[in-house]
Amino acid sequence: METVVSGIRPTGNLHLGNYFGMVKNSVQMQYENRCFFFIADYHSLTTHPNPADLHGRVHQVLAEYLACGIDPEVATLYLQSDVPQTAELYLFLNMSAYLGELERTASFKEKARSQTENINAGLLTYPVLMAADIIIHRATRVPVGKDQVQHLEMTRNFANRFNNLYKNEYFPEPQVYVFTKDAIKIPGLDGSGKMGKSEGNGIYLVDTDDQIRKKVMKAVTDISPVEPNSPMPESIQNIFTLMDVVSKPDTISFFKEKFNDCSIRYGDLKKQLAEDIILSVSPVREKIKDIYDNTDYLRKVVEQGKEKAHESANKTIKEVREIIGFKPF
Ligand code: TRP
Repeated sequence: METVVSGIRPTGNLHLGNYFGMVKNSVQMQYENRCFFFIADYHSLTTHPNPADLHGRVHQVLAEYLACGIDPEVATLYLQSDVPQTAELYLFLNMSAYLGELERTASFKEKARSQTENINAGLLTYPVLMAADIIIHRATRVPVGKDQVQHLEMTRNFANRFNNLYKNEYFPEPQVYVFTKDAIKIPGLDGSGKMGKSEGNGIYLVDTDDQIRKKVMKAVTDISPVEPNSPMPESIQNIFTLMDVVSKPDTISFFKEKFNDCSIRYGDLKKQLAEDIILSVSPVREKIKDIYDNTDYLRKVVEQGKEKAHESANKTIKEVREIIGFKPF
């Protein structure tokens, strides 16, 4: 049993790629480990959102993750800003984070290029805050994508540096949590590549049935096969990859046969895919709506998460303070 910390950025809605990949795996992960999921709302301040936007986004992702099956009775689900112990640990870690290493971080360099009017110290020390998020629970594992690997490496450096400075082994070295099931790569429907927010090709859990139909019908399809058993173009493979996730095996083999004997009509294929996506995600969409509107429930979830996170964070902070030399008289 590992202690796992997973941070959720409150930006944008979940799309099918998130849902069938990272989110489904996270739901599984919560039953096998001691998991902390938190919404990284402190981190959001690096881009100066207005208060209504910040709150609205936190509200939305909270509803979405709960609807997808993150269970607040099983895991600890909390808001980062409800655990200011994280901010205190961030302060301590900042005392031994070097300007040079922070300036060399890929995400900082990228932000400094794209956000030239607001290169603030929070952006520079983003990896330190992320390290604090992780080691505040003395986590051993963190599920991260490629773009976060460097941050996790820095977390290990900060944890080790703390240990060396105070000559102890207080913080474990958090490693990447590798999902047991291979994350299914959900492709975009625009010819090649994956589904993503930045790719602009997302089909979202909150999309209406008609929005889903429109998006799927716009999917790029290659010319129809003219010879039996011809190789399948990538755009058509992508449609079948999605079908593998949402359609019945019979439906899939029906269309595969039609592809192989050249009688396939891509319009029919896409219509079928759209209906199967709708069947598998519309219940989640309804759940998101219900949870979003149920403020009593949300308040309870957030309160419960805060309490559980405090229990773990308070213990760490108390021990860290003593290690550093802040001791009661
Ligand atoms: N930086 C992560 C991202 O952009 C979010 C995050 C913040 C995080 N703190 C974390 C992820 C701690 C894992 C652990 O996606």
